[in-house]
Amino acid sequence: MQEVQRIVILDFGAQYTQLIARRIREANVFCEVVPYDTSLSDIRARRPAGIILSGGPSSVLDADAPTVDPALYNLGVPVLGICYGMQLTAHLLGGRVERAAQREYGRVRVEMDVNSRLLHGVSPASQCWMSHTYHVTQAPAGFKSIAHSDNCAFCAMENTQRGIYCVQFHPEVTHSEEGQQVLRNFALNICGCRGDWTMAAFVQDAVKSIRERVGDGRVLLGLSGGVDSSVAAALIQRAIGERLTCVYVDHGFMRKGETEQVVDVFTRLFPVSLVAVDARARFLKQVEGITDPEQKRKRIGAEFVAVFADEAAKIGAVDFLAQGTIYPDVIESGSVKGSAVIKSHHNVGGLPKDLQFKALLEPLRMLFKDEVRKVGEELGLPSDMVWRQPFPGPGLAIRIIGDITQEKLEIVRESDAILREEVALAGLDRSVNQYFTVLTGIRSVGVMGDERTYDYTLAIRAVTTDDFMTVDWARLPHELLARVSARIVNEVAHVNRVVFDITTKPPASVEWE
Ligand code: XMP
Repeated sequence: MQEVQRIVILDFGAQYTQLIARRIREANVFCEVVPYDTSLSDIRARRPAGIILSGGPSSVLDADAPTVDPALYNLGVPVLGICYGMQLTAHLLGGRVERAAQREYGRVRVEMDVNSRLLHGVSPASQCWMSHTYHVTQAPAGFKSIAHSDNCAFCAMENTQRGIYCVQFHPEVTHSEEGQQVLRNFALNICGCRGDWTMAAFVQDAVKSIRERVGDGRVLLGLSGGVDSSVAAALIQRAIGERLTCVYVDHGFMRKGETEQVVDVFTRLFPVSLVAVDARARFLKQVEGITDPEQKRKRIGAEFVAVFADEAAKIGAVDFLAQGTIYPDVIESGSVKGSAVIKSHHNVGGLPKDLQFKALLEPLRMLFKDEVRKVGEELGLPSDMVWRQPFPGPGLAIRIIGDITQEKLEIVRESDAILREEVALAGLDRSVNQYFTVLTGIRSVGVMGDERTYDYTLAIRAVTTDDFMTVDWARLPHELLARVSARIVNEVAHVNRVVFDITTKPPASVEWE
């Protein structure tokens, strides 16, 4: 197997750094983001085919501006500076950077030298996205300008002899219409990457390295049924089979059919040593009579740790603890978090402190979410598992306002299943990011047949978002809402009213508790 080629992105803190990584990977080239102050020897050890210097909020003219060792330009590896990365390159190599008369922000028409290596194949005049206050006013010796706009003489420059390329605009954002072509030129033509990094290649590689690392050891993984832990389990299973033990805790707040699917997939399709713990009674007892949302979460979290600890103790010491950590958990703009930090399990309260294992195994830690889904599909996991919407650790328990009873659990579980079914039938299950029902705790008067009823009000929550930090309410078609409402009041006992939550976040959170 050929060595995986990689491009290293030095992160100077731009909000777009992750996007650069995404775009390079879309060209089927593996890349990783590291802090700008990563040592030269560390960078060299990664054997990069190319290096990208990202944008960033600083000015190279500041005394304490983030910088690199200029020897970086002599590694014999092509370098691409983007925005701040361009200004830093000019500054370090003897060019001049000055504050522009006015900040350039937004779409700008840029005249391109289409005979240059970097801009090969783009249009002579192309829309680019700019966001900068400083700019290069004199290129370092050996560089020539290969793009300009009305305001900026150096929108891009290159020194082909030294293999150094720079752009002032942001090729990684889609507002730069031909930005992807620029990044492809760099990765494929200039760095000479093969462009063969696919999820199939990733799976092959990951299986091999898991086998090498684990040897004949044993691995323990907490399986939540969510995308990340399920894909991690399937991948590790492919590598070491039943030497992987998965612990799945059914706390009773799962969605309809979820536990059955997890058990089926990991006994039949991907046979692992599965410990499926039916802890439903234990958890229900913990939340009995509890109405305060924080209390509910804390109790569920603590009980989860206790159940997991009990099961881990039965299994005994293992060599590796596996986790479904993914790349956004690992990188932050401007820094890379400590690798040994243990992600809180299921996000419901951490892992037992005295869990015995020698090392962590995180096979997905270099992948973005949609890449994880592709790996899942590549491995043959069921598509509704791979495309599962986010689900909070405490599950349906935080979708019942007030105290929890078995009857109320059935109401949210059944209504959630109806909503999911109808959203999927309407073909919206991949475009609406999260959708579920909430038992509001309100009861109201209704009429059914000739009878007066006094029953529960159920809310539908559906949101669209990029990151769940802010969300908009999804404009579900009225016909779909009508079908869901009719089915819920007909099929789910004790619901006589259905309402639709039309609040953005902020001020409302996604979950109601
Ligand atoms: P909120 O309600 O905070 O939700 O606006 C944002 C996203 O996070 C999910 N969420 C959780 N996920 N454990 C999780 O793993 C939790 O305790 C938890 N609480 C909320 C929520 O479903 C939404 O996707």
